[in-house]
Amino acid sequence: PKLGYEFIQVSEPRPGVGQVTLNRPKALNALSTPLITELNTALEALSSSPKIAAIVLTGSEKAFAAGADIKEMAPLTFSQAYTTSFIESWSKLTTAVKKPIIAAVSGHALGGGCELALMADILYCTEKANFGQPEIKLGTIPGAGGSQRLTRAVGKAKAMELILTGKSFSGVEAENWGVAARCYGSYEELMDAAIKTAETIAGYSKVAVQAAKEVVNKSQDLPLRDGVEYERRVFHSLFGSNDQKIGMKAFAEKKKAEWTHE
Ligand code: HXC
Repeated sequence: PKLGYEFIQVSEPRPGVGQVTLNRPKALNALSTPLITELNTALEALSSSPKIAAIVLTGSEKAFAAGADIKEMAPLTFSQAYTTSFIESWSKLTTAVKKPIIAAVSGHALGGGCELALMADILYCTEKANFGQPEIKLGTIPGAGGSQRLTRAVGKAKAMELILTGKSFSGVEAENWGVAARCYGSYEELMDAAIKTAETIAGYSKVAVQAAKEVVNKSQDLPLRDGVEYERRVFHSLFGSNDQKIGMKAFAEKKKAEWTHE
């Protein structure tokens, strides 16, 4: 574990798996600027560590994160928010981190907490997880991509209802609507599953994993024809990797692939 963080914990629960745990329990992991700064530092360190292949991002059983820190935001003026690009650094992980991030969500994932979970590559949650974009109740709107990512995930009809009413949705609904890949009955099962999935990913070629993450995320930005073309270009490029030769040779020889990650 890396020492020196105040609002997060960093660990390596299994070889190749990095875990970041949001740890500001008194404020239900409200995402203050110092917390986000630590989170970005930790994620960038895990991303550049050759030992780490996949990352689990979680909170506590009670709260993944109850949103941006309302007490910090309350006095902000327009010009302060605008000139400091308030919230822009939150989405750094979507561009700076090339390794898969699995969000493991238990308890509250509200406002910025929901938006942070939506930025992850895979989202797992508990059945009782409490998701929502309640910003409307505070006289504002989602500001870290919620209106865009939630709408892409659940479609306009549901996103509009959720964002205009501020109503929560459960982990079961998150799974049914395709926001979460899976939901689990308990916090322990959730964490086991998230770490196991990260371990599975860590067992594959780092080159192929990074490419797979890249092309799936492109689908959220590109029209279909461009996305399919982009995928094919990246697919072609992987014939230049050792791991493609290793993987296909191992299949033919009925052996386990020993990746060189080149
Ligand atoms: C600052 C927060 C907080 C938040 C909770 N706390 N959420 N502090 N910012 N977002 C603090 C409370 O003030 C309280 O501190 C302590 O955490 C425990 O919270 P309680 O409310 O006492 O707990 P509980 O009754 O269990 O209710 C849980 C809750 C509620 C339903 C999650 O705390 C809540 O509604 N929180 C706000 C959720 C929200 O509106 N999120 C969106 C924020 S706006 P004290 O000191 O009193 O013990 C947002 C904008 C995103 O995220 C746009 C840009 C990213």
